[in-house]
Amino acid sequence: MTNGSGNERILATVAARALECVPESGTVGLGTGRAASAFVRALASLPKERLQRLRCVATSEATAALARSLGLQLTTLAEVDVVDVTVDGADEVDPNLDLIKGYGGALVREKVVAAASARLVIVATQDKLVERLGVRGRLPVEVVPFAWRFCQRRLAQLLGREPRLRGSDDGPYFSDGENYILDCLVDPIENANELELAIRSIPGVVGTGLFLGMAHLVFIGDGSEVREFRRVA
Ligand code: A5P
Repeated sequence: MTNGSGNERILATVAARALECVPESGTVGLGTGRAASAFVRALASLPKERLQRLRCVATSEATAALARSLGLQLTTLAEVDVVDVTVDGADEVDPNLDLIKGYGGALVREKVVAAASARLVIVATQDKLVERLGVRGRLPVEVVPFAWRFCQRRLAQLLGREPRLRGSDDGPYFSDGENYILDCLVDPIENANELELAIRSIPGVVGTGLFLGMAHLVFIGDGSEVREFRRVA
């Protein structure tokens, strides 16, 4: 069991390793969450002359604020055709490098930036490795607020359990896109591609936390070691 500061140290090591995927010049996508933030800090430590040749696309307002505070140059997705590489975290990584993401609420922007990227690199600690997606029991789904009850009912029919509307006593959680998140309670997923299609066919669903066939490379911090996993074909 690793404590919080132990994890931070491991993430800093993994993030530093991911710097090897950053081009000499071009566009870098910045994910969201603790691992992605560790990468943002590692990136900001590169020499100034190198940073001047890099532009970053952030997947959340929080990451944009962190990147700005560290002096990274931001651009928007509208201004770039292709993001050269995106480095992000994940909540689950299976043996095919398929992922569940979105516990941090940035799943839709993360998926858009990942899809716009020539390479998606994941940085994470070893507790995120799973034999099958869904073992942690949760799949986030972003929905438009107008449709949330309808989506909740349809998802309950599909999955056999009613999804939870993410939020607190102060009210529902809003994503950066001003949408709600339904946290679906799932068992280990038999066929993730089928589930992705079934959920996406529900009107009002904006996106799911399933990232299938998207990650090219995964760096996993395990103690002082960094293990590397590459997608096969
Ligand atoms: C944000 O929406 C998520 O997809 C994060 O990338 C994911 O939850 C991993 O976050 P941590 O690195 O904080 O565990």
